[in-house]
Amino acid sequence: MNGFSVSASSPSNIAIVKYWGKHGNQLPNNPSISFTLSRCHTETQIKVGENGGAKYSMQFFFEGKESPKFQEKIEKYLVDNQQYFGFLNGLDLVVESRNTFPHSSGIASSAASMSALVLCLLKIEQKVSGGVAPLDMRKASFLSRLASGSAARSVYHVMALWGATPSVAESSDDYAVPLADIVSPVFKTYHDSILIVSNKEKSVSSRVGHSLMNGHPLAEKRYATARENTERLLKVLQNGDLDAFIDIAESEALQLHEMMATSTPPYKLMEPNTLEIIGLIRRFRQETKIPACFTLDAGPNVHLLYPEAYEKQVKSLIKDNLLSYCHDNQCIDDVVQQ
Ligand code: PMV
Repeated sequence: MNGFSVSASSPSNIAIVKYWGKHGNQLPNNPSISFTLSRCHTETQIKVGENGGAKYSMQFFFEGKESPKFQEKIEKYLVDNQQYFGFLNGLDLVVESRNTFPHSSGIASSAASMSALVLCLLKIEQKVSGGVAPLDMRKASFLSRLASGSAARSVYHVMALWGATPSVAESSDDYAVPLADIVSPVFKTYHDSILIVSNKEKSVSSRVGHSLMNGHPLAEKRYATARENTERLLKVLQNGDLDAFIDIAESEALQLHEMMATSTPPYKLMEPNTLEIIGLIRRFRQETKIPACFTLDAGPNVHLLYPEAYEKQVKSLIKDNLLSYCHDNQCIDDVVQQ
């Protein structure tokens, strides 16, 4: 076999209905729906050769430097899921990965990095087996999910649904399905301006956060609400009701952080400036009637969501009123991936 290389790029995503709480092998306790972003993504390249042995060998570089931490994470993933990766045996892999997010923005998206890695691995499988068919995105989503739950949604453009829900026949807890064909055009124009309140690594990881949902006194209520919000949001995405969208997005974000505040032990990832920004976004919406709203990931940064038609006014709000609450005046202006 001659050596070859494969590459793939995959974006981050921001959930509107949140996945928080899991069971079994990375299975969600409720369905979730996200926008796929375009500017925040991971680019991964794998140089493939033969190693003459029975197993695979791998070296991992992140942004040009060897990264034992990532390498360990990937090796664990490949061992845990070896039944899907037999085609790697005998291969030597040099993995190089980089993010397009600005350095020290506090954004470390495992969704982007793990889905980019999986896409590369599937390209290797295709090459080794001589296949020419387009990549199976459902399989890509399935394998991405096993690496990082939310990564399941990153393989589709525009929006994705992960988790079984009654109104979408093909929906599944095993993989995400695309929503691009059903969403009203306005949602394809959405911007996500990410207001960087802090660039520090979060004090409690998502892995720990998910585990604190086990035995959480409000867990069942939360899962039921998320299931209802999934069905509501699916309707809203089709009928373009922006007021209802705002309602769902903001209450989901606050509930996620409420779960953290009521865990044992309790913790908070929001910071005072997170709340200042949220207040200013709400005041702006009240005063201007512009349908801008916020969502939060498991961290202090605020994702300001709005349709493209209001870009000028929202950008003024950011510049004049919000940047001063951000770390180093940092804001990443992302848009939904077309
Ligand atoms: O994919 P994980 O295990 O990092 O969990 C992500 C959880 C949230 O980002 C908070 C919500 C979501 O649905 O993306």
